[in-house]
Amino acid sequence: SIPIVRIVAELRSIVAAWRREGFKVAVVPTMGALHEGHLSLVRAALAKADRVIVTLFVNPKQFNSAGDLAVYPRTEHDDAAKLASVGTHILYAPDAADIYPQGFATTVSVTGVSEGLCGAFRPGHFDGVATVVTKLFLQTGANLAFFGEKDFQQLQVVRRLVRDLDIPIEIVACPTVREADGLAMSSRNTRLSAAERPSAPRLAEILFETAGRLSSGEPVERLLHEARQAILAAGFSRVEYLELRAGDNLALMATPGRPARLLVAAWLGQTRLIDNVEVESA
Ligand code: PAJ
Repeated sequence: SIPIVRIVAELRSIVAAWRREGFKVAVVPTMGALHEGHLSLVRAALAKADRVIVTLFVNPKQFNSAGDLAVYPRTEHDDAAKLASVGTHILYAPDAADIYPQGFATTVSVTGVSEGLCGAFRPGHFDGVATVVTKLFLQTGANLAFFGEKDFQQLQVVRRLVRDLDIPIEIVACPTVREADGLAMSSRNTRLSAAERPSAPRLAEILFETAGRLSSGEPVERLLHEARQAILAAGFSRVEYLELRAGDNLALMATPGRPARLLVAAWLGQTRLIDNVEVESA
């Protein structure tokens, strides 16, 4: 089994003891409902650090509706067992009242990379992410932090805030882990109905196909239009965005230049799915 720590003072004293041993410490922030995507981050962290802290906190500040927060899966017992089985050293699972005590009044807000894409459809979401991630970095004092490319814009927001606030932590990005049929793993996939589930992998298929054609130089605007139509034809009810962006700063791109990324958010029934893939330059 794995020690579960809830109080920041206890976390700090554990990390201080590790420091005295000269250990390199990694943190993997999560909201629980862990799947192979999360565990891949933990394995990458274990390969690069001597001690790995996984944090589990369903952060109310990053949800756009009380309903979404209320139905977010909470499976701490199973999560702890999975983390123990891969060799995580501690699970830090604080209570909301300790992360945001009475009178909490500070927000970390990153401009630029947090605008557009998910930022345009989820007002306040990235402020919530940036605020909690900053706290988790300061609370753990970790040397390294692991994030998934699945949430590509989040990764850029975190990189930006670490640079801007001089937080001494190295951000490591890990590739998106997919189901056998290509669907990007997500805690929200369990919300797909049996009728919807077979359509879900079409999103990734269309992304990969479009990325390939973009690399071979076909016109961006026409391809993005066709891809939108294909996503709707696959049974999705709405495409929030489908955009080609620079892979480093998320600037809009008219033609695929150096590192480029194709990013999408679309609704399948009541479930919002996001995904993104690399676009190699022609
Ligand atoms: P959560 O959605 O639980 O994701 C935790 C981490 O797992 C993130 O870095 C995310 O990108 C990564 N992840 C999720 N699905 C993945 C997949 N299929 N392949 C690879 N990595 C994947 O992201 C959050 O929580 C929160 O916003 C958080 C950063 C914890 C702040 O509250």
